[in-house]
Amino acid sequence: MTVTTKRVGTALIVTLDNAPVNAIGQAMRQGLIDVLTGIGSETGLTRVILTGAGRAFAAGADAREFDADPIEPHLPDVVAQIEACEVPWVAAINGVALGGGCELALACRYRIAAPGVSIGLPEVTLGVVPGAGGTQRLPRLIGLRRALEMIATGKPVTAQQAEAIGLIDGIADDPVAMAQYLDIGTLELAERICDLPAPAPNEQAIADARALAAKKSAGQIAPLRAIDLVELTSAASMTDGLSRERETFLDLRTGDQARALRHIFFAERAAKPPNWLQAQAPALDQVAVVGGGTMGAGIAYALLNAGLRVVLLEVDQEAVDRARINVNKIVDASLKRGLIDQAGAEDRQSRLTLSDDFQAASGAGLAIEAAFESMEVKRSVFTALEQALPRDAILATNTSYLDINEIASGVSDPSRVLGLHFFAPAHIMKLLEIVRAQATSETALAVGYALAKTLRKVPVLAGVCDGFIGNRILQRYREAADTVFMDGSTPWEVDEAMVAFGYAMGPYEAQDLSGLDIAHANRRRQDATRDPNRRYIPIADRMVELGKLGRKTGAGWYRYPGGNGKVDDPIVADLAVEEAHFAGISRVDYSEPEIEERLVLAMINEAADILHEGIAQNARDIDLVTVFGYGFPRWRGGLMHYADQLGVPQIVQRLEVFAQEDPLVWRVSQTLLDCVEQGISLAQYRGSDR
Ligand code: 3HC
Repeated sequence: MTVTTKRVGTALIVTLDNAPVNAIGQAMRQGLIDVLTGIGSETGLTRVILTGAGRAFAAGADAREFDADPIEPHLPDVVAQIEACEVPWVAAINGVALGGGCELALACRYRIAAPGVSIGLPEVTLGVVPGAGGTQRLPRLIGLRRALEMIATGKPVTAQQAEAIGLIDGIADDPVAMAQYLDIGTLELAERICDLPAPAPNEQAIADARALAAKKSAGQIAPLRAIDLVELTSAASMTDGLSRERETFLDLRTGDQARALRHIFFAERAAKPPNWLQAQAPALDQVAVVGGGTMGAGIAYALLNAGLRVVLLEVDQEAVDRARINVNKIVDASLKRGLIDQAGAEDRQSRLTLSDDFQAASGAGLAIEAAFESMEVKRSVFTALEQALPRDAILATNTSYLDINEIASGVSDPSRVLGLHFFAPAHIMKLLEIVRAQATSETALAVGYALAKTLRKVPVLAGVCDGFIGNRILQRYREAADTVFMDGSTPWEVDEAMVAFGYAMGPYEAQDLSGLDIAHANRRRQDATRDPNRRYIPIADRMVELGKLGRKTGAGWYRYPGGNGKVDDPIVADLAVEEAHFAGISRVDYSEPEIEERLVLAMINEAADILHEGIAQNARDIDLVTVFGYGFPRWRGGLMHYADQLGVPQIVQRLEVFAQEDPLVWRVSQTLLDCVEQGISLAQYRGSDR
């Protein structure tokens, strides 16, 4: 039973009960219709109290139903019947009331929420608009501007905020009890939202919302359609507004963006230890972090945030002092942004020890090394960790590229070693690549997954190769960008194309932020193993020779006069012209779609190889890596989901054209050819070696 009822005095308590978060599926909608039908036979009823079992009121419509045709009864009809019911309904909002959950509450005459619950209409984050009256009822209740803030961004409000803006009528520790004792006069006076006057038109609020959507949700359809619907509330009747809303909801629901956003929503939740991983992780209390640079300090802060004790190790006192400054910077920034209060800051500092003596971490169950990217440095850190930490402590490296098998081979028990690859800033970015080396034990992997859960990160299992999943794809992306640059474009044209595709910034601006020297050092490391038959683009090396290392030197692919905004640099553009001339290349003028196509297909091709080699377990994991670690537009569903939307046969066709044009750069991945031969998508592909 997904809806249960209990008669208590003159109240009928209706409980939504579909664990874990009371998603509203067909059975629940039917259950509510049955309750509504049964109300006629109840005598002496003064109110119906709607609440939820467990931790939620209702998390919204069951998004797992969105791929199929809608089945009756539809939520808007349920909502309309609740609103029209002779007996007033009271929403006793015990936990989150999101999407359809919020819309059920808006159908009620009165709303009481428990403190701390969140209430909102996050539909746009799933690529749809509210589909059960939210866009028409909320503006009538709280005004156009506030409704826009909630509906077009999808951001929920807390119970306290909801009360302040008039979205709810009261807050109570036990909302059901308060609903029971609510004065009957108050209830009779409470109006149905559909009877409230339409909000006054507010052109400025609409224009502001559109501008914000263009900036924060560029490329996404749903926020703009939601704004149109809210605007309609002051112009159209409730009936017309509701039917336009329903039409829009059904139209978006099966569109590419909604499918992509649903895919990522469920993929994120499915990121859990694989079934074969049976080992239990021992409880963690203290973690050692080696290296207090930007990355190490970020990791240390992430651990402190999650309530762990941290020993941050450095090589000498001077480095310890620098590490302290780096952590303090993050604490101060978090204080300033209101993410923590003074007591929270002190609590975090009290759990942090900094030392240049590895013995200080003798009680740590896990160490995460984030020292300089050099095999020699890493090997000596691991030897020191092995000596200082308990015998069964798990030893992780945060290396981005180095061979973890080689790092592990210096430890007497290599089964304790794995990769835990964080992304900068480590206390913010949600991705955690858990890298499994040849000897890594299941316990070590279980510790990695348990840590991801503690830190609320998205874990993705990766195998050992140069760059694992994410950086290996990134390297191909940059290589494709440099090739396009050398053969005809400018860095700013490349960046513009990728921003138009949906990235927050293009590959060149991003490199200027992180520094060109990192990738340069990496290329030098790869010199000995690089495929001599592959075209090498020398422009980035020239940049480093010229001292153009990015923002930190005031110039990289762009110039940053006065440390401020970026400016195109004709000297950089000329570099490509020169290099192309030396190489005897006639440059071509790529259009924006051509640039985008080359960069995206280069990534897809590499990712397909990664799948084939078993470096990633499945396409979904690559989607998670690209979205949560590398800024791939979430509304495109991740790299492989996007590839499947393009169609693998179409991708192969284009890659074959490129390969004919320049076989030193392009080669079609066997995985893609296999998919075409078997008539399957990348999502369906299972590597042959697993
Ligand atoms: N539909 C289907 N399943 C849902 C769901 C939904 N709307 N919301 C959550 N779930 C599932 C999750 O997939 C997960 O399943 P699993 O246990 O099998 O992995 C389970 O419920 C628990 O979810 P979380 O792990 O996310 O639990 P949290 O406690 O961390 O978060 C939450 C709870 C804040 C409710 C979060 O799940 C959430 O944000 N859900 C989506 C809310 C939303 O977008 N609602 C709008 C839906 S569209 C709609 O309502 C249309 C309407 O206007 C007609």
